[in-house]
Amino acid sequence: MDILVVGGGGREHAMIWALAKSPKVDKIYCAPGNAGIAQLAECHPIGVHEFDKLTALAVELKVGLVVIGPDDPLADGIVDAFDDTRIPVFGPRRNAAEIEGSKTFMKDLLHKYNIPTAAYEKFDNYEQAQTYLNAQSIPVVIKADGLAAGKGVTVAYSREEADQALRSIMVDKVFGEAGAKVIIEEFLAGQEMSILAFVDGETVRPMAAAQDHKPVFDNDQGPNTGGMGTYSPLPHIDSSIIEEAVETIIKPTAKAMVSEGRPFQGVLFAGLMISPDGKPKTIEFNARFGDPETQVVLPRLKSDLFDIFWATVHGKLAEIEIDWSDEAAVCVVLASGGYPGPYTKGVRIEGLDEAKDAIVFHAGTARNESGEWVTNGGRILGVVGLGADISEARDQAYAQAELICFEGKHQRSDIAAKALV
Ligand code: AMP
Ligand code: GLY
Repeated sequence: MDILVVGGGGREHAMIWALAKSPKVDKIYCAPGNAGIAQLAECHPIGVHEFDKLTALAVELKVGLVVIGPDDPLADGIVDAFDDTRIPVFGPRRNAAEIEGSKTFMKDLLHKYNIPTAAYEKFDNYEQAQTYLNAQSIPVVIKADGLAAGKGVTVAYSREEADQALRSIMVDKVFGEAGAKVIIEEFLAGQEMSILAFVDGETVRPMAAAQDHKPVFDNDQGPNTGGMGTYSPLPHIDSSIIEEAVETIIKPTAKAMVSEGRPFQGVLFAGLMISPDGKPKTIEFNARFGDPETQVVLPRLKSDLFDIFWATVHGKLAEIEIDWSDEAAVCVVLASGGYPGPYTKGVRIEGLDEAKDAIVFHAGTARNESGEWVTNGGRILGVVGLGADISEARDQAYAQAELICFEGKHQRSDIAAKALV
């Protein structure tokens, strides 16, 4: 069967890498893709929001399955847009993707169904929000309701910071409509963890747990990014806590979505905080694979990813076996200097051919007129090391990352360090 994957980052490269291993997959197409993805898939320069062009392409290419990577098109209803084509699409419909697209929807859902999450209030009026905020203890968390490219959340450690965050969302409207509503939330202390799960309706099949590193600098300093590195599994977190999170958070949420008439189909990704006494609470839900979580989770998948996608879109997820390897994976992201602020594109990348002992997923690369690899984004590459444990995988990822050079290259040097203490 031929497949169309929508997206063009490291996550989509990892999905395509895994799909390409399936004997049932013939040709893979990607829109828009990137230069690394082009090694495995035929890329078409169509943006992820060009629904008419994407549906026409899928029909013209006669693909048997479409897979959606990023959050924005899901929130905008890309899955519904494929209805007329009758081609199965892996990913949630617009009304189910709202679990990521609207934090107020997500919080109200969890509240209604008694699913553990931080205490909160929502506001669409600045004065009322400010009065409530003044009465909260510090630290406190302020969140814009809608999608804000990962920048809509402020964990405020002072009153000034909290007031400033609220003002910039509600008065200065820095996130536009995404900030029309705001959530003021209790601060949760503890360890973060992500669990991704394949979901079709009420069936939940958790994947290997993973941990992201969002701030740009070591020791979690500096502004948040899309993710500077990940690792899986999480040896420092007891498996009973992971099971508890699946039983008390992910399964009840999938069930709640069915009860609300919004059955979820695709990947449900829970961002969780484990309190010091070992209780998981929900921080956020995403309606898709994580980036760069996918880059460490899929290399550990022993089963055929195509079979899982196919079963999910046909409501048969409960019927298949899904096996994970015991190997550990660590992904180190190589980013452009300056990211997540302004950065230069078109810088030559050297050493990609030398880094053969790692899996290198491309996030933002292109080829110049001479065919050389050049940078084309903030996050450029995800270098994934595998090993018997996190320590081995980490050593391999860093050793291989050393072989790849470009001017301004930035990486964190402490990916997975928390798993080793
Ligand atoms: P989000 O975009 O919702 O994933 O939030 C970004 C980051 O803010 C999370 O990864 C957490 O580190 C932090 N965060 C969000 N909500 C809370 C909370 N209630 N308590 C503590 N930290 C939080
Ligand atoms: N790595 C975080 C995300 O994909 O949302």
